[in-house]
Amino acid sequence: MEVKTSLLDNMIGVGDMVLLEPLSEDSFIANLRNRFDHNEIYTYIGSVVISMNPYRSLPIFTPEKVEEYRNRNFYELSPHIYALADEAYRSLRDQDKDQCILITGESGAGKTEASKLVMSYVAAVCGKGQEVNKVKEQLLQSNPVLEAFGNAKTVRNDNSSRFGKYMDIEFDFKGDPLGGVISNYLLEKSRVVKQPRGERNFHIFYQLLSGASDDTLKKLKLDRDFSKYNYLSLDSAAVNGLDDAANFRTVRNAMQIVGFMEDEVQSVLELVAAVLKLGNIEFKPESRCNGNDESRIKDKNDLKEMCELLGTEQTVLERAFSYRTVEAKQEKVCTTLNVAQAYYARDALAKNLYSRLFSWLVTRINESIKAAPKSRHKVMGVLDIYGFEIFEENSFEQFIINYCNEKLQQIFIELTLREEQEEYVREGIEWTNIEYFNNAIICDLIENHQNGILAMLDEECLRPGTVTDETFLDKLNTICAEHLHFESRLSKSSKFLTDHSLPHNCFRIQHYAGKVLYRAEGFVDKNNDLLYRDLSQAMYKANHSLMKQLFPEGNPAKVNLKRPPTAGFQFRHSVGTLMRNLQTKNPNYIRCIKPNDKKASHIFTDSLVCHQVRYLGLMENVRVRRAGYAFRQAYEPCLERYKMLCKRTWPHWRGPAREGVEVLMADLTVPAEEFSYGRSKVFIRNPRTLFFLEERRRQCLQDLATLIQKIYRGWKCRSHFLLLKKSQIVVAAWYRRYAQQNKYKRIKSATTVVQSYTRGWQARKLLRELKYQKRCEEAVTTISAYWHGTQVRREYRKFFRANAGKKIYNFTIQRIMQKYFLGLKSTMPSMSPIDKSWPVKPYLFLDGVHSDLRRIFHLWRCKKYRSEFTEEKKAVFEEKLEASEIFKDKKALYASSVSQPFMGDYLEISKNPKYQKLNSAMDEKVLLADVVNKINRANGKGTARIFLLTKNSVVLADQKTGQVKASVPLPDLTSVSVSTQSDGFFALKLKEGSASAIKGDFLLSSEHLIEIITKLHRTGATAADSEQLNIDISDEFLVQFKHDKVCVKFIQGGPKNGNSVSCKRKNNRLLEVSVPSTV
Ligand SMILES: Nc1ncnc2c1ncn2[C@@H]1O[C@H](COP(=O)(O)OP(=O)(O)O)[C@@H](O)[C@H]1O
Ligand SMILES: [Mg+2]
Repeated sequence: MEVKTSLLDNMIGVGDMVLLEPLSEDSFIANLRNRFDHNEIYTYIGSVVISMNPYRSLPIFTPEKVEEYRNRNFYELSPHIYALADEAYRSLRDQDKDQCILITGESGAGKTEASKLVMSYVAAVCGKGQEVNKVKEQLLQSNPVLEAFGNAKTVRNDNSSRFGKYMDIEFDFKGDPLGGVISNYLLEKSRVVKQPRGERNFHIFYQLLSGASDDTLKKLKLDRDFSKYNYLSLDSAAVNGLDDAANFRTVRNAMQIVGFMEDEVQSVLELVAAVLKLGNIEFKPESRCNGNDESRIKDKNDLKEMCELLGTEQTVLERAFSYRTVEAKQEKVCTTLNVAQAYYARDALAKNLYSRLFSWLVTRINESIKAAPKSRHKVMGVLDIYGFEIFEENSFEQFIINYCNEKLQQIFIELTLREEQEEYVREGIEWTNIEYFNNAIICDLIENHQNGILAMLDEECLRPGTVTDETFLDKLNTICAEHLHFESRLSKSSKFLTDHSLPHNCFRIQHYAGKVLYRAEGFVDKNNDLLYRDLSQAMYKANHSLMKQLFPEGNPAKVNLKRPPTAGFQFRHSVGTLMRNLQTKNPNYIRCIKPNDKKASHIFTDSLVCHQVRYLGLMENVRVRRAGYAFRQAYEPCLERYKMLCKRTWPHWRGPAREGVEVLMADLTVPAEEFSYGRSKVFIRNPRTLFFLEERRRQCLQDLATLIQKIYRGWKCRSHFLLLKKSQIVVAAWYRRYAQQNKYKRIKSATTVVQSYTRGWQARKLLRELKYQKRCEEAVTTISAYWHGTQVRREYRKFFRANAGKKIYNFTIQRIMQKYFLGLKSTMPSMSPIDKSWPVKPYLFLDGVHSDLRRIFHLWRCKKYRSEFTEEKKAVFEEKLEASEIFKDKKALYASSVSQPFMGDYLEISKNPKYQKLNSAMDEKVLLADVVNKINRANGKGTARIFLLTKNSVVLADQKTGQVKASVPLPDLTSVSVSTQSDGFFALKLKEGSASAIKGDFLLSSEHLIEIITKLHRTGATAADSEQLNIDISDEFLVQFKHDKVCVKFIQGGPKNGNSVSCKRKNNRLLEVSVPSTV
């Protein structure tokens, strides 16, 4: 939100007309227009607020605005009605000055709205609390009730107040509202019976008919249809933006809040209904024989209903409409009423009934909102009264109203000037007389007790004889002829004889706000305001409590023959009271202006505004205000506002503010006649000077703004830089900390390593020393133990037996042996003779025993094994044993034969039918039968032969035929030769000279060489008569072939021989057998 510190800031046009330069009507209106166009509807003339009606809702009446204006100085913020209300309320509360707020302006200018704004502002800012809120609510809610009964739609305003209203709000010493008193002035009662074209009757009639429930209407004998009622104009019954039905509810509610009882509300509505019914009573003429016109009621139905409503007797009322009783001293004269008179009587009754009802309402509201009597109340009066009115045809009402405005102007001039004067005196400023128009003379013309217009009107009305409006005008022409402000065609001064703008039946008054032409017609009647006594008596007779109160003069017991006071007299009287009341108070003015006639927003009609500005006397107002000094301001705010204009006062002035202002003015070389120094304020004569100051200030502010900007930017950059610097230090600090931490960690770990090495080294050194020490200690202990032992033994030897040591030794040995044997028993190896395992020796000294036991166990195991042999198996093993004795470690072939069992008969010669013949040729049992190769003597090649061995001989047979080729008796064999190698060659050497030896020795080869030789050797040995057969094992032996002896030589074969044994005849003396190498 924009913050303003002075009215002068951001001002649209000129906020205070006093500062308008040059001051003329045109510039005045141009300024108003300019501000109005910018939605600035308020403008000041000093402390007076000019209010333009915006005819639309502006966002300037919000609770925020209330807060904004609360407790602020009047000239601090832009012009607003709230500023005035605040000023008034604060000086009431704080300075104990009673206030009045005078709101003037023509119909539709916004007076009533303004008064409501003031009241709502005061209600918002004054104290709070349950009791206070109730009072506030009642005060505020009195408005809708009075508006319903006193406002109507007119051509100028849809909600025009048709009465003047003055409300005193009473406050306690704290400024909390206590209650109020409302005074009403001159209700426009003629409206009840007749409304100008385009206007309506009072709102309440329409509200009742549209808003009341069917039930209520039935009780009131009313019909919803407006057209049924003569008193309701139809052409504008419905008004745009006015919801009568809703308003009726609002009014009912407001009445309840204000404190009306339910039966009171009912009575009020009954009277309203009665007025409507009254309007429907119509009369018809009826000629009577004596020639007098008489009237009769046309349709008595409405009369009847009305009488039922009011509880009157129909005949009484009927009579009151037909006759008039005039009472003079002792006489009573009764005359009949003609139709016109009957209608006059009816309307007079309706008007009176309604206006009295309205006055009663005001009294009733006052009763409710009355403050408890206390020693002293502070009072704020709000006057919402009709403004100056100039119509084409002006009558008594306008005259009265304008008189009232004239009085208000009078009081305004008086108070404003007085105030101004007082201020100058207070401030010690020399007072120069101010030229202005004083309207006291006009007031005198109207209200003077001897020759004032009102006094003369009353005189006319009271004068016996025929009194008409013309006689009244004649009187004026005579008496006021010389008055400067009275104009009439026929006035005695004859100044206006030729003035054709002045009709004969009119007179003109030069009011302070302009000339107004009044038509004399109706003045007398309206002033008399007659209601026939028969009617008031009829009303008093009604069985209706409210009616009785409204027509007290109808009470026959209190017949008062004196005429009631005239309307003019009453008004003058109440205006007098009002003025006296206002004079005791501090006035605050709100002058309302209507911008256009169309009730439209955004339209500003210059001529219309100009007219209002004139008759409201606003120019006068400005002039009066400017007569002395146009502008004044207390020293402190003045210095505060302009101190930047002078080096000595900027930025701070240490001394008193007044001196500061003096220095300032001197420095600015403002002409001395342009200002004066008061006690607390500086007074500036011309607005020019003020604007000069303002302009200088504006320029200076720009420079200051630049300066502030400069300083601010510098500050901002500096703080930014400092922040960066600070941040950099923080970052650096953290980084350094981090780096140092790392360095420290490295040093620490290095130190730890060094330390650990050193400590290790020290510890090891220490350990070594300790170990050495310990060893020394142990050695010492051992030596000392032995030494002690020796000594002890030496000591005790004599006590031991001589062989005790041996016994102990034996016993120990026994124990060890026992343990050894028991251990052996549990770890014995298996009974297999080939099992080589044996437990490890436990003691060194048992070495010999251990291996002996192993051997013994083995032998025992073998014996056990052997003892389980059968005879055959025994034989087999004997053969194997013999083979071993013969060949073991002598012939390489032997090793491979060990695992081969000796089968003997490989050919199954006894069973195989192929060898049946051969078998049968054998006389002995065949011990061995196998196929062998007989080596050819000539070339060394082999031929397969069956080799048979019996108990007596060796037989060689053809393998295919089985034919015996040779049979050698065993005794003929002398020896057998074999090589040391792994071949199967063997030579059977025959006894020289034996029969078998003719063909020479046999050189054979067999796969079962070992078995054959073994069996041969055994058999030969068992033959009783034979010698032991020699077995010759060597790699070279001689063989007898027929006649030659051939050497058979065995050589280790080369690789080209492969695996097979090959035999070659090298020469007739050498047969070479090459044997594959066994390695
Ligand atoms: N401050 C305002 N803001 C908006 N509308 C306003 C304001 N003042 C007056 N009006 C409008 O003008 C109409 C007439 O105002 P009102 O106060 O009844 O006039 P007055 O009492 O002077 O005859 C109101 O009904 C309302 O529509
Ligand atoms: Mg009004």
